[in-house]
Amino acid sequence: MAGMTNSTAPATTAAPAHSTSNLSVTEAIRSRVSIRKYVQEPMNQDDLREILELASRAPSAWNAQTWRFAVVQTPEIKEKLQAAAYGQGQIGSAPAVIVVYSDMEDTLDTVEETAHPGMGDEGRANQRKTFENAFGGQDVAQRGQWGLSQANIAFGFLMLAARSKGYDTVPMLGFNPQAVRDLLGLPEHVQFAGLLPIGKRAEEGFPQHRHTVERVTKFY
Ligand SMILES: Cc1cc2nc3c(=O)[nH]c(=O)nc-3n(C[C@H](O)[C@H](O)[C@H](O)COP(=O)(O)O)c2cc1C
Repeated sequence: MAGMTNSTAPATTAAPAHSTSNLSVTEAIRSRVSIRKYVQEPMNQDDLREILELASRAPSAWNAQTWRFAVVQTPEIKEKLQAAAYGQGQIGSAPAVIVVYSDMEDTLDTVEETAHPGMGDEGRANQRKTFENAFGGQDVAQRGQWGLSQANIAFGFLMLAARSKGYDTVPMLGFNPQAVRDLLGLPEHVQFAGLLPIGKRAEEGFPQHRHTVERVTKFY
C-alpha cells in the first residue's frame, strides 16, 4: 500500500506471539511425533521459559532435581552443536535446541536447596545426611548415572510441555557428549539426557508406531 512505512510491516525475524495452545496431557502424548524440519522463525521467549518451567516440575527421588538445561539459540553455537551431532540437520533447522543434562555434583554441593522449606533447618540438615549416606560411598560416575535417571524424567516432561504449548521437538542422543561438554563449557562429570531441537513443525512426522499394551505388559 502506498505510503505504508516499514515500521508497520511485521519484521520477518520478529518472534511469533505467545502461544495460546494448551493441549491436555492426552492430546500432547497422542500428537507428539519427532519433527526434523522447523518453520524459520525465532522461539517466543515467554513460551520457551514456560516450557522449561513446566519441565522443572518433574518429580525426582528425594526431590533432587538433578536436571540442568542449556538453551542454544545463537546460530554460530547451533552450527557447532550440529557438527557435534554428526551433522544432523534438525539442529540447524530448529530455532532453539535445549540441551538436557544432569549435574549430580552440583546437586550434592547445594543439596539443602532441594529440601522442602516446610521442613525447616532440621529438614535441610537431614537432606544433606540422606544424600551423604546414599552417595558418599559412590564414585562420580556411579552417582552420575543415578543423576541421569532423574534428569530423564524431566526430558520426558519437556517434550510433552512443548507439545502442549503447540511446539514440536525431536529427542536426540546421536551426538558426541565430550564435544558438547567442550562447546558449552560444561564440567566433565555432567551426563546428557539428550538434545531437544524445538520449534514449529514445517513438515509432518511419521505416524506413531508402537507395541500394543499386551506386548509390553504383564498383569499380575
Ligand atoms: C533417547 C532418544 C534418542 C534419540 N536420538 C535421535 C537422534 O539422534 N536423531 C534422530 O533423528 N532421532 C532420534 N530419536 C528419535 C526416535 O527415532 C523417535 O523418537 C522414534 O523413532 C519414535 O518416533 P516418534 O518420536 O516420531 O514417535 C531419539 C529418540 C529418543 C527417545
